[in-house]
This record gives sequence, structure tokens and C-alpha cells, in this order.
Amino acid sequence: MFETLKKATLDKIFVLMAEYAADPRTDKIDLGVGVYKDPGNNTPIMSAVRKAEQRILDGAKTKTYKGVVGNKEFSAAIVDLALAGVIDTARIRCVNGAGGTGALMILMHVLGRARPGGRIFISDPTWPNHIPLAENAGLSVHYYRYFDPKTRAVDFDAMMAVIEGLDSNDVVLLHGCCHNPTGANLTPAQWDRVAESLKRTGAFPLVDLAYLGFGDGIEADAYGVRKVATSVPECMIAFSASKNFGLYRERAGVAIAIARDSETADVVSSQMQNIIRGTISQTPDHGAEVVRVILEDKELRAEWEAELTQMRERMQRLRVKLADAIRQRSNSKDFDFIAQHSGMFSLLGLPENVVTRLKTEDGVYMINDSRINVAGIPEDRVGELADKLLAAIG
Ligand code: LMR
Repeated sequence: MFETLKKATLDKIFVLMAEYAADPRTDKIDLGVGVYKDPGNNTPIMSAVRKAEQRILDGAKTKTYKGVVGNKEFSAAIVDLALAGVIDTARIRCVNGAGGTGALMILMHVLGRARPGGRIFISDPTWPNHIPLAENAGLSVHYYRYFDPKTRAVDFDAMMAVIEGLDSNDVVLLHGCCHNPTGANLTPAQWDRVAESLKRTGAFPLVDLAYLGFGDGIEADAYGVRKVATSVPECMIAFSASKNFGLYRERAGVAIAIARDSETADVVSSQMQNIIRGTISQTPDHGAEVVRVILEDKELRAEWEAELTQMRERMQRLRVKLADAIRQRSNSKDFDFIAQHSGMFSLLGLPENVVTRLKTEDGVYMINDSRINVAGIPEDRVGELADKLLAAIG
């Protein structure tokens, strides 16, 4: 049987994570996989999450099935968080996804059924997993240029040149906030223009919302998704609770479909349920229930929001520290963009041989496209990291 198989390509982010774990050097620095790190270099369980878990454990009476759509109250709480009532719920249908990736998988399969072989336009560059997700759903992958490597900012004109030319059979995948991998994000005025263009062309937006609250705060980060959702008759949103609730391995996410009317929404819901049942049958519930408990409880919610703010501010502080340290040492503003970007990542724009040298010689791990996870910057070794980066660049 297996002799017909060829080795598949593994995702570079998780390959790097394994390499980092196997590296015996004690002074290694992990700027790779996108997980939040505290000052002790740990990815902590948020205290609101711990409390919610205890409540769940104490009150649990059953482990029976939830049903194919998953935890409905979790979905409703996420719709509220992301959309804040801007869309009539009669037009919205949700299912839980196994994390944000699971939500994307369900939504893309629905789109693949709606438009077999249809075109999906993805930002160049993007999170590498977007591509197999789209291909596995039978969509044909195309790109819009997103990033200007010279300015390290969004190349908005190039992006719009593609978006303006789409039609109503096309899907466009948008990063709702905290663009992965670049860290360069659309301004509200740019979101307005994207939304206006989608409304005019009829191209279908799929918004990947994996980092809500990691950029400029929940409300600011939700500007784009709310603008798009209120501008077009139909769209989809993949929400992830992996980062903002620190629930990575629990796989909590929501696939949100917004249709033009309630009858159409029911059809989409049946498709989403059919896809879940035919693949994983039911989604995991623990993480979903944790988020539900937190968002439905005033005190736990306030505690979670405060922790999220702390995490966001820490990442912003690390950005400023690294940019300052590089500027002081190099006497140039070339890396000031690190402090201007937002979210978890910045794309440094280093050639791959420099990235490799940093890993092998200095134990500094980043993704081979030179994406860094800013949460991994060691606050007490920022100067040393700046020295290593500058020495490797030469
Ligand atoms: C990342 O981009 O590093 C994270 O989103 C983890 C993942 O699933 O790739």
C-alpha cells in the first residue's frame, strides 16, 4: 500500500518548532511559531482560563455529544465579540471549528462546493497553511500583492489593483487584523476602500480573524471585519480563540457564515454541518466551553480582557525595545518598522541564508521568510538579539 506514497511537505512553522525543541543550546531564542510568551519564556494558561476550567470541572455532569454545530452559546458569544450586533442574527449561522484552522477548513469546503474550482485570492505573502486549506477544498489559489518589502508596509495600490478586478465568482481571503506574517495592517480608511470595492464587484470576502485583540485592542482590531460584514450581502469569518484565549491545543474556533437572508443561511448551515459530520463528526468542546464561561461572566470577562491588554502591551513594548536597540547600534532607521507594525509578527526582510545562519550559529530561530514572533523577544536580552541580527546581516 504505502509504496505508492511520496513524502509530503510538512508545514515549515511546525518543522521549525521541532528543530527549536531539539536544540540543546540553553541560550537559544525562539522567534518562530506564533504562540504568546511571558517574560519567563513560557506560554502561560491565562488566569481567567484556569478559573473557567475549574468551574467546568466542578459542574460537569456529562461528556455526551453536543451535536454537529457544537457549542451554540460559544458561537453566539464570539459573534457578539467580533460583530457587536452590527448584523441581524437571522442572517448568521455558525458551527464550531477545531480551532481557527478547523473553521477555515469548513468555510473553504463550503466555498469549494459553491464554486468548484473557483478562484480564491490570498495575500502574498500569507500564513502558509492558507494554501493547502484552499487547495484541499478544491479552490484555485491566486494572489494579490500585499506587502512592499522596501517600505515594509502594505502595498495598498498593488492590492487594490487586483481586488478591483475581481468578480462575483471570486473569493478574497482577508486577514482581519494582525497580518501574518508581515505585521503590516490596513488602516480604517483602507478597510473602507476594500469594503467599497467588494460591494461594487460582488467578490466574496472570507475573513480570517485569528488575532483579535492582539493588535490595537478588540474594538480597533474588529474595525475591518465589521466594515466588510456591513458592506456586503454575504461573507464568512473564521474566528480563532487559540491566541487571544491562549487555548492553542484545545482547538477552539468558530466558522461564521453571513447570508443575504435567513433561508439562504439555513442552506449554508446545512452544508457546514454536512462537512463536519463527514470529516470529524463533532468538534472538541473543552476550549469552546472555557471561552463561553469567560465571555458570559462579567468578572471573568473583565479579567480576561485585562490579561489580553497586558499581553498586547507587552508585545508592543518588545517591538519598541528591539527597534530602539537596532537603531542605537546601527545608527539607521532601517528596522523602525518593527515598532510600527502590530500584532504578533513582523517580517524582517532578511535573505534566507541570513535566517539560516542566525539559527545555526546563534540559536536565533525565525521562520525562513524572516518572520519573527515578537512575543518571543527576550526582554532582558534585547541588546544581544540586536547584536546578533546586525552581525548576521553584515
Ligand atoms: C503561526 O502562524 O505560527 C501560528 O498561527 C501557528 C500555526 O498554526 O501556524
